[in-house]
Amino acid sequence: MAQKYTLEEIIASSSRLFKNKQVLKPNYTLKGIDDILHRDEEIRIYFEYLKDIFVGVSPNNIFIYGKPGLGKTLITKLVLDLVKQEVKKRGIDLCVININCDEIKTEHAILQKLVQEIPSDEPRRIIGNSTDKHNEYLKYLINHYQGIIIIVLDELDKADKPEMINKIIRTESEASGQFPTIIGITNDLKLRDRFPPHLKSVLCENDLIIKPYDATQLADILRARTEMAFQPNVVPEMVIDLCAAYAAQDYGDVRRAIDLLRVAGELAEARNESTLVEQDVKDSCAKIEVDRAIEVIKTLSTQSKAVLLACIYVYDSPQENITANIYEVYKKLAYEIDINVLTQRRVTDLISELNQLGILEGFNDFRGIKGRKKVITKITSKEQALQMLYKDERIEEVKNYHPSVFCR
Ligand SMILES: Nc1ncnc2c1ncn2[C@@H]1O[C@H](COP(=O)(O)OP(=O)(O)O)[C@@H](O)[C@H]1O
Ligand SMILES: [Mg+2]
Repeated sequence: MAQKYTLEEIIASSSRLFKNKQVLKPNYTLKGIDDILHRDEEIRIYFEYLKDIFVGVSPNNIFIYGKPGLGKTLITKLVLDLVKQEVKKRGIDLCVININCDEIKTEHAILQKLVQEIPSDEPRRIIGNSTDKHNEYLKYLINHYQGIIIIVLDELDKADKPEMINKIIRTESEASGQFPTIIGITNDLKLRDRFPPHLKSVLCENDLIIKPYDATQLADILRARTEMAFQPNVVPEMVIDLCAAYAAQDYGDVRRAIDLLRVAGELAEARNESTLVEQDVKDSCAKIEVDRAIEVIKTLSTQSKAVLLACIYVYDSPQENITANIYEVYKKLAYEIDINVLTQRRVTDLISELNQLGILEGFNDFRGIKGRKKVITKITSKEQALQMLYKDERIEEVKNYHPSVFCR
């Protein structure tokens, strides 16, 4: 029988290991620039790019790129915080507008945000809904603002039309004779090549490439975070090194390293341990993998979900899990849930895609090799995957059938 705990015991246990868990949450931002480790050179270059501000001149546009979780958003925020403080001391007007294009995606929404935020002595005009009117009003506001405008477009690749910034970059202020400065940030290393040549050269006047951290640097960052997050002596060095090693294996993503440590701490807490142990990190790694796979499944199209369901049914059946069999099951499922039946070729592509997303394993290994069959060797967290699939309103229709109905 499971042991019973009182609420008090549970509350007490939550502070036994953690001192301040918030600092391990994905949205936690460090307080000051000195808290950023191993980015001295990048920060120096950043200030160098921005230094014109201190003499009242708009700096050139800046383009920052690097894979996720390498500190691009963090560095930008803390560098600009410091710039804002300095500028204030010198009596220079500066307006910094921060837009996360993953949240504010459309051209219209971005313009809306800009016209809300550019300072103006006059009351805001009511301009209706048209994008043209917004563009016009933005121009007006830029024209009448005396100070320097910096527009940070984080996750720029997620915007519907990243090239819309072309217009903003070219809007000269009649009041100050300056153009707004854009700081474009992206995880997508190829975004730049998608811009028209003119935009590419103006936007990327100054670029900053953020490189992955190695395991030693990750361990330093984790150590600093551990001191803030955990009680003394509950996280052994070996645990920190293991989290750093796992994250470095991927590509040196700090977000992943911190997640690993947090989840390891939560597991240790649930297991009533007094310190974190190696197994907590291993299990944390597995758990994060499962959570990630489930998140991905949630965003799949109904077609891909049907293909995945067919893969699972065949995988669990006595049939060999090869494309031909999966396709037969897929066809029956598609008919039952009333979606278009795709060609076998297309279904094969979708299975490969599931493989690339890490939801299946093995399938791609044999791709294109004549005479070999494409066999799935593993389905990541099958049970949770099934639960997630049945949440799709179409797929739900087959929830109560026995899979063998489709595997004949
Ligand atoms: N050099 C660093 N020192 C301390 N923490 C860092 C460092 N780089 C990144 N982080 C932390 O890693 C996480 C991801 O950083 P973030 O700036 O959001 O990455 P990106 O924008 O590149 O995806 C955040 O929690 C951040 O605080
Ligand atoms: Mg970011």
